[in-house]
Amino acid sequence: MEYDIEEMKRKLKKYGQEHLLNFYDTLEEKKQKRLLEQIEGIDFELINSLYNKTKNENIHEEVDVKPIEFIDKYKLNGDYKYYEEIGKKAIREGKLAAVTMAGGQGTRLGHNGPKGTFDIGLDSHKSLFELLCDYLKTESNKYGVNIPWFIMTSRENNNDTIEFFKKNKYFGYEKNIYFFIQGQLPMVDTEGKILIGEDGLIKEAADGHGGVYESLLKSGMTDKMKELGIEWVFIGGVDNCLVKMVDPVLMGIAIDKNVTAAGKSVVKDNPYEKVGAFCKKNGKPSVVEYSEMTKQMAEATDENGELLYGESHILCNLFNISAIERMGREPLPYHSAFKKATYIDKDGNKIVPDSPNAYKFEAFLFDAFGEVDDMAILRVKREEEFAPVKNASGVDSPETARKLYNDFYKLS
Ligand code: UD1
Repeated sequence: MEYDIEEMKRKLKKYGQEHLLNFYDTLEEKKQKRLLEQIEGIDFELINSLYNKTKNENIHEEVDVKPIEFIDKYKLNGDYKYYEEIGKKAIREGKLAAVTMAGGQGTRLGHNGPKGTFDIGLDSHKSLFELLCDYLKTESNKYGVNIPWFIMTSRENNNDTIEFFKKNKYFGYEKNIYFFIQGQLPMVDTEGKILIGEDGLIKEAADGHGGVYESLLKSGMTDKMKELGIEWVFIGGVDNCLVKMVDPVLMGIAIDKNVTAAGKSVVKDNPYEKVGAFCKKNGKPSVVEYSEMTKQMAEATDENGELLYGESHILCNLFNISAIERMGREPLPYHSAFKKATYIDKDGNKIVPDSPNAYKFEAFLFDAFGEVDDMAILRVKREEEFAPVKNASGVDSPETARKLYNDFYKLS
């Protein structure tokens, strides 16, 4: 594609971003092309409004937050088998696909590479990707189908992820694996100026796991799914080594109750556990992040002494493909995070900050839940389904995840 550089300059001036072309002439041809492509793809109005919002963070809309109803998987009694049979039938008919959001890097774990390539230190030394793949292969065998696995990467880790899978011969599941790349947004400094990275290109960051719906749609993955006869899509994170992507009870409930989305929860470990909790916001299903909760809300209990906001959102959700298409078309709000970002200043100097200096913008997957009319919430057991690997040590670390994994599979 040919770009009109003069026109582009006028546009950049209008938005106060003329510096983006400062080093254009010094770049090699391939990078020049990429830079122009990047500029062409930026929604400057959006970036301006996101930046302006960072100045007004304290203005919160009034939202009516209420607890959400849930079903306890282990108090279903006779209904357990009923839902299970419905779900099993749909799985055997090949209607389920799994999506793993693996756009993140293992930075917090001190791991240099895609988070999915991280070895949590099991005796087998299998990576998170291999553990998830083992699980899918077992379930596929159980149901006599091949459950397709869609893996969301980011621009930052896509090549490394694919290389890793190639090197490991796709763990014997190659025919069923599809990769797609999530979206990105430019990072801006405290003056709202878009940053240029060390490579001379615009510094972009992954647009958050909320980008999963739009990316599934835009990359043609939802079409692929339909071609394969998929009706239900489980979406989970790569950082939970006990993630149960194939759950006939969850699926049976969604089908039987005629809802287009269902989510799994585990009871909060304590009122202050750093997880989001399912809730209703203005009457629609949603998640309230721990950072948004007041002490009073976090500690509130019902007549049985159970936490009112105790159903942790563990990033284990199931959607009808129609819901994904709907969510993928609706823009989601973005949340800003203040981060450290190395960049090239307007005079060409490389700046390595020692404290946060730039905003990155992320959409959260659960902000789309309001698009569906209702969502079934299934409470499951933490020790069976939730072993997240987030921190290098302490809570939600490789050590805690390893123990949960070994205990569940009775490996030690
Ligand atoms: C998240 C949820 C929280 C939930 C917890 C469960 C948010 C804001 N909060 O917290 O409600 O209780 O997980 O573990 O999300 N990812 C991408 N692309 C991105 C960002 C994330 O693929 O742009 C993937 C990561 O690889 C990971 C998952 O999404 O698999 C979770 O992301 P992370 O940012 O680590 O979420 P948490 O802050 O831990």
